[in-house]
Amino acid sequence: MKPTTSNEIRKAFLDFFAEHQHEIVASSPLPNLDNPTLLFTNAGMNQFVDVFLGNEKRSYTRAATAQKVMRVQGKHNDLENVGPSPRHHTFFEMLGNFSFGDYFKREAIDFAWQFVTGVLGLEPERLWATIYLDDDESFVLWQRYLPAEKILRFNEKDNFWAMGDTGPCGPNSEMFYYVGDMATCDPSRLNADDDEEFLEFWNLVFMQFDRQTDGTLVPLPKPSVDTGMGLERMVRILQHAHSTYETDLFTPALDEVQELLGDSDAERAEKFVGYRVIADHGRAATF
Ligand code: SER
Repeated sequence: MKPTTSNEIRKAFLDFFAEHQHEIVASSPLPNLDNPTLLFTNAGMNQFVDVFLGNEKRSYTRAATAQKVMRVQGKHNDLENVGPSPRHHTFFEMLGNFSFGDYFKREAIDFAWQFVTGVLGLEPERLWATIYLDDDESFVLWQRYLPAEKILRFNEKDNFWAMGDTGPCGPNSEMFYYVGDMATCDPSRLNADDDEEFLEFWNLVFMQFDRQTDGTLVPLPKPSVDTGMGLERMVRILQHAHSTYETDLFTPALDEVQELLGDSDAERAEKFVGYRVIADHGRAATF
């Protein structure tokens, strides 16, 4: 049986990486306690910053987490998208696997492909990958799974990830799932600002540098991996929902709002932006 509920999908992710020798580490708290420039944890890698930088040693070199994150401030802020957007949230869960100087690009790509096509059963014909402009190594690695025309190159804005203005960063490779009609699929729309058919669901960051305050990129002691998959987005894909809100993660809250307001289904549909904002912000405030 393929996982379909949000709880099954989260568990399938952690089980898969545990089977591949990853330590399952608990989510760090949402209020960020380690970094005075960051109010809320905004990525799975936050709790591992010192491990990437080589300042801290752990008993493992591979880890996986289901991390609570909030993106309402600074470099990663999705607050204004919440409501109109069928895929953005303030609070969400990020499923991540990490390598601290253990594996690098090849295994990161292999794990991601095996998990989404093997464990989750996503159709390869609906999958695309993006890579950083000059990352020919990732291009060659992806070609073992995808035809060249489905591996697209983008610049720093889309394919170079950093937690903030300083600290660990590196080129990244993102995986997209096309939710639209295959007969009218137009890959030139991928990463277009107004596109809602190519759904980015997993970001594989090849951590290589420590960005200094003057912008200099100092190589990390060891090339590492930091990935993040949006649980809500993967649940949407596997539940064939039109938005992340029409999944088992949000429908109970939306139903409750409808009941409290005494709205008909038509009224609920008409007021969808407000419903989404209440459900999203309610969940965020609770955590
Ligand atoms: N740190 C990357 C992100 O947040 C991958 O986990 O997208």
